[in-house]
Amino acid sequence: GKSVITLDDLSVPQIQELLHKAQYIDSHRKEVAHTCDGRVLATLFYEPSTRTRLSFETAMLRLGGKVIGFAGAQLSSVTKGESISDTLKTVSNYVDVVAIRHPKEGAALVAADAAGVPVINAGDGGHMHPTQTLADLATLQSRFGRVNNLTIGLCGDLTFGRTVHSLIETLCRFGNVRFILISPKELKTPQYVINRIKATPSCSYEEVTDLSSVIGDLDALYMTRVQKERFFNEDDYLRLRDTYILDEAKLRKAKPTMAVLHPLPRVNEIAVEVDNDPRAAYFEQVKNGMLMRMALESSVLGDQLAGYEEKEITL
Ligand code: CP
Repeated sequence: GKSVITLDDLSVPQIQELLHKAQYIDSHRKEVAHTCDGRVLATLFYEPSTRTRLSFETAMLRLGGKVIGFAGAQLSSVTKGESISDTLKTVSNYVDVVAIRHPKEGAALVAADAAGVPVINAGDGGHMHPTQTLADLATLQSRFGRVNNLTIGLCGDLTFGRTVHSLIETLCRFGNVRFILISPKELKTPQYVINRIKATPSCSYEEVTDLSSVIGDLDALYMTRVQKERFFNEDDYLRLRDTYILDEAKLRKAKPTMAVLHPLPRVNEIAVEVDNDPRAAYFEQVKNGMLMRMALESSVLGDQLAGYEEKEITL
C-alpha cells in the first residue's frame, strides 16, 4: 500500500479505477462487507470534521474493518507536546492505515514520512484535500458521465479552500476543463494552483469577481465556504464571508442541467431553498465521499473486493 497525500500520488487510470470500484461497491454492499476483515484504521483528526472523519470510519466499518483514533487532539499526548512524527511512529504499530487531518500545510506528508503504514491526507491546512476530490469527481461522473469537457465555476474562498486546490490539480490531469474562478480579489486562487492550469494546454481559466454574470456559462458550480479558521483578522472574515450567496433567484440564470457542488459544511453561501432544486448535488457528494473512501481504503490495503475483477493498476 502507498500513502495518498495529494491525488498526484495516483495515476489517472488509478483514479478512474477507484471511480469504477466505488460504483461496484454501491451496488454490491453485502458482497464487499468482509473485504477488510481484520484491518484497523486510525483516524487522527487534529481539526474539526463531520463528513471526512465519519465517512473514513464508516467506510472501514462497512468493509469489515475496525477503527481507532482521536477527534480533536485535546485528549491525546499531542497536548503534552508530542510531534506528528512520534505520533505516527507510535500509531503505525497499532493499525494498517491512517487518515490524518491537521491545520498545518504539509502535516500529512510529515506523517507519511514517519509512518510504517499508508497515510491518507484527510485535509492539511489550506493545501489539499484529495479524498474530497474523489467525492467531487464521482459526483461529476454521475451527473455528466464524464469529469472533463466541462466549464466549471469555482466560487468563494479560493485562497484557503483546500478542496478547490485538489480539484483543480486533478482536473488538469484529466484535461479539457475551462475553469472560471469566482472570488473576491482578497481570496484569489494561489499561484501554485494557477501555474498548474497554465501548464495544461487543454485547460483554460478566467478570474472574475461576479457570479451572476458567468453562472449561465457553467456546467458545474463548485461553491465553497469562506474558511474562517484560516483568517488572521476577524474583520476581513466578517467583510468577505457573505460575498456570494447562491439562491433560487441566481439559479434562474443557470443552465437547467448545471450541477451545484459544495464540499460542505456550508454557512450562508447556499440558501437552504436550493436544496430542493434538482441541480443541487452536494448531498450526493457526501454519499460519494463514503463510497470513494471505501474504494480507496480497500485499494491502499490491497484487499480485493469480492466478485470484482481487479485490474493491473493496484495502488
Ligand atoms: N467536506 C469536508 O471535509 O467536511 P468536514 O470538514 O465535515 O470533514
